Amino acid sequence: MRLQHRVALVTGGGRGIGAAIARRMADEGADVCLVSRTFSELEEQARWIEENTGRRALPATADVRRPEDVRQTVRTALEAFGKIDILVNCAGISVADASEELSFEQWKECLDINLDGTFLYCQEVGRHMIERGQGGKIINITSVVAHAAIPGRAAYAASKGGVKQLTQNLAVEWGKHNIQVNSITPGYIYTEIFRRFVEQGVHQPEKLEARIPAGRMGRVEDIAGPAVFLASSDSDYVTGTTLIVDGGVLANGYI
Ligand SMILES: NC(=O)c1ccc[n+]([C@@H]2O[C@H](COP(=O)([O-])OP(=O)(O)OC[C@H]3O[C@@H](n4cnc5c(N)ncnc54)[C@H](O)[C@@H]3O)[C@@H](O)[C@H]2O)c1
Repeated sequence: MRLQHRVALVTGGGRGIGAAIARRMADEGADVCLVSRTFSELEEQARWIEENTGRRALPATADVRRPEDVRQTVRTALEAFGKIDILVNCAGISVADASEELSFEQWKECLDINLDGTFLYCQEVGRHMIERGQGGKIINITSVVAHAAIPGRAAYAASKGGVKQLTQNLAVEWGKHNIQVNSITPGYIYTEIFRRFVEQGVHQPEKLEARIPAGRMGRVEDIAGPAVFLASSDSDYVTGTTLIVDGGVLANGYI
């Protein structure tokens, strides 16, 4: 068990990649606080974790754009568990629209949730980690669009590029506090976000798979193992970087 006696707060922990990370961290011995704006999905995941791993799982509703929600959920987690060792920022949305068609509201929503939400949790949990003086691990979920362009994804790319740079900056600022800050760059992972794009004709899984060197779409479990590595002491000398987990998509030079 690589995360025994640790406490993790996972945003977007109610479903998809965030839920898989939370389950896997609990499997490795961590108690988890799951955050999203949908209580029903959080409740279901928390029940699954407590029944199947024996660890404690606390559901906490928040809109990651709202500083008061962020403060409240961090306070709730601290009251329940006494500390936070690991923060995973996974809550996010994706927008696919030609830049000339994109409304300012779509742009704002994407930047507010993906970038502002990530910053707010990093700041609030980072303050706790600094004050506690025991170090910590922060893992932000970015995307291949932070590395290469896909037409029609300007807002999403700007938000995830921002997350990648924010990660580097915080790693440099908080290295002296023994807080490692890294990101994970997932490739194409079959989740709710992706399913909606398939329905809208944005993605065609068969065409995509033909371009992925690994020969298949990613699964949520593919991201959970790398997240445990970045949360564990095995990665104590890893900071300010991104772990690309994309089945070789970026190496192929074509996303
Ligand atoms: N699926 C992919 O192919 C893929 C690829 C690269 C990166 N990502 C990133 O991974 C992360 C998780 O995505 P997923 O594919 O699991 O999608 P998902 O839609 O299944 O999960 C997104 C989660 O974020 C939560 N969320 C959304 N807006 C929120 C808000 N304002 N406040 C609180 N919670 C909110 C949702 O409730 C949900 O729990 C996202 O940041 C996404 O950009 C996904």
